[in-house]
Order: sequence, then structure tokens, then C-alpha cells
Amino acid sequence: MTILGIETSCDETSAGVITANKNDANVTVLSNIVATSLSLHTKTGGIIPEVAAREQIKYIIPVIERSLIKANVKLSDIDSIAVTIGPGLIGSLLVGVETAKTLAFILQKPITAVNHLFGHIYANFIISENEEKKKIEFPALALIVSGGHTDLVLIKTHGKIEWLGGTRDDAAGEALDKIGRLLDLPYPAGPVIEKLAAKGDSKKYNFPRPLISSNDLDFSFSGLKTAVLRQVNSMPKLNEQDIADICASTQKAIIDTLLAKTIKAAKEYEVKSILLGGGVAANQMLKNNLILVASSISNVKVFVPQKSLCTDNAAMIAAAGFFNYQNLTWKNIEANPELYFA
Ligand code: KG4
Ligand code: ZN
Repeated sequence: MTILGIETSCDETSAGVITANKNDANVTVLSNIVATSLSLHTKTGGIIPEVAAREQIKYIIPVIERSLIKANVKLSDIDSIAVTIGPGLIGSLLVGVETAKTLAFILQKPITAVNHLFGHIYANFIISENEEKKKIEFPALALIVSGGHTDLVLIKTHGKIEWLGGTRDDAAGEALDKIGRLLDLPYPAGPVIEKLAAKGDSKKYNFPRPLISSNDLDFSFSGLKTAVLRQVNSMPKLNEQDIADICASTQKAIIDTLLAKTIKAAKEYEVKSILLGGGVAANQMLKNNLILVASSISNVKVFVPQKSLCTDNAAMIAAAGFFNYQNLTWKNIEANPELYFA
């Protein structure tokens, strides 16, 4: 089956073509084109929804065209379309959803409505070039850490997903981005903080790890931002080393909290696989530490998508569409900015 994926939930406009085979349960990417309006948002220190939506409109057709050329397929070769319907910014979502509906109407092809968060989970089912086939066993636990979400979900089997816990306030990526702004770092701050943290001392500041020992599987990151602000305000001037130390200590506090709850959930639900997903999953230290702590639990395998598949992209949406196939027509698809785990 050949699927065209479309992703426009926020500031990335992406189209990608995948092929997949039910008997094989592995997904191969033929193309995955991503255009981003990030540089415009870097100037404003955050995303302005209206600006993001206008850029989506500009990019969507060129991105789809390039994804078909790169995959060496024609629109008539596509068996179905998978599109992100939410969660996300309504103006951005509408661009992808309405484009997908138009294509489905003209080509008379089925559509699958994809939850963006499922996309981040299903990025793990994609086989990259030179990568061995993956055998993801259920039940699996997924930690989704992005700019808008921090969630732990249990995947009993494809499409059977139970939400276990999540952030009560800021998402992990959001906390990194807000702390980056305090430190005058460019947006999005996650990758910059990771780079600076490599030169810093993660033990220099003992920032809070809220809820780390609580009985539930929830997170809270807004207190961390306040603690960093207090620290910054107490220092007359920050030099390069101070910033590196704050970045390292912040990153460590976030990773410690994420991992404590992930390991707690993995043990409680006796999962066989742990899947990491979302933009923050691109963080090498998070990945390395997860592999390390999970090695203490027997028979658990950790999966992390390759870096380019951690941030928003259409191949992961197409993969989610393959494993959760819906034979819908264009009439049954609607953008839903508030969509969550049903
Ligand atoms: O999944 P994503 O591309 O968009 C959303 O759906 O939100 O995630 C973007 C988030 C941003 O908060 C960004 O700062 C963070 O992912 N991020 C990182 C890294 N790369 C992106 N955080 C930590 N380390 C990274 N290397
Ligand atoms: Zn995302």
C-alpha cells in the first residue's frame, strides 16, 4: 500500500510518501519533505498562529509536488491519504485537512484522519535506510515529549491506546523554550540548550523535579521555569559558563523527571517496548539515559526514531495512517484542534 501523508499542525508543512505491507508491519519512506516557517518565529520568540497558517498555504502544494517527485510516484499511484486532523493550531490544521479532502475528492481515494500524537508514536515503526527491521512488541509504553505535549500512553495493540498520565501545566519542550527565552536563546530553545548543556555542569544548580516521587504518572514543569528565573535574577550578569551550567542543570532536571515516570509506568504495566516520540526525543542525552535506565528492567526494548523523524513530519503521519487505516471519504474528515487521546 502506498500512502501520501500530510502534516500541517503547527509551523511545519510536510508531505511524504510511504509504502508498507501488512504482513511485514514495517514502513519504508519514499519521501518526507518538510518546509518550515521557523525562521519567522525565531524573530518573534514564539509562533504567531496567523503567520504560521499563511506560510502553510504558501508551502502546501510545492511540498506535495516535491514529495511525489522525490518518491517517483504519480498522484494516481497513491492508494490512500493520511492527514493530521489535530491537535494543533486551527489555521494551520485547516490547510492540510482541506488540501487532503480536495485530493481525496478529485482522486476518489480513501482518507485516514490521524491524531498528531499518534504520528509521533508511529515514527518508531519507520525503517530508515541501513536500519534493521524493528520488532516492536506489545504492550508498549510511549513517552511523547514535544513543544505542546508530554504524555505517557499504553499501547495494548495498534489503535488500542490508553492515556496513563501527562503534564499538568507546561510540556517539556515548552519549558525548554520558555527557559531559553529567559536566557536570550533563539527559538526553539531545545536543541540550543542541548548543545550548550554539553559544556555545562548539570550538578551546579539543583533545580526542582516536581512530582518525581508522586504516585501518579503525571508531570509538572512550570515550577522549573520559575526556579530558573529566580536563579537568573539572583546573578548580576551571566557569562557563557553560567549559561552552560543553567542549561545542563535544566536539561538534567527535565530528563530525570521524564525517566522516573517512564520507568515507573514500564514496571507497573509490564511493557515489552518503550517508544520515545516528539521533538524533545531528538535529545541525545534523553535517549541515552532512557536506554541506560531501561536496561535495569528485564525484557524491555527501547525504540527512538531517527532525529529527523522526531520533529514534525508527514512520514510519521502516513505510518500512523497505515496501522490505523480508516476507509473514510472526504466528507467525514474535520480538523479538531483540541483532539487528544480518545
Ligand atoms: O514535536 P515537535 O517538533 O512539535 C510539536 O508538536 O510541538 O517538538 C518541538 C519541541 C520544541 O519545544 C523544541 O524546543 C523541542 O521539541 N526540541 C528539543 C530538541 N529538538 C527539538 N528539545 C530538546 N533537545 C532537542 N535536541
Ligand atoms: Zn509534534
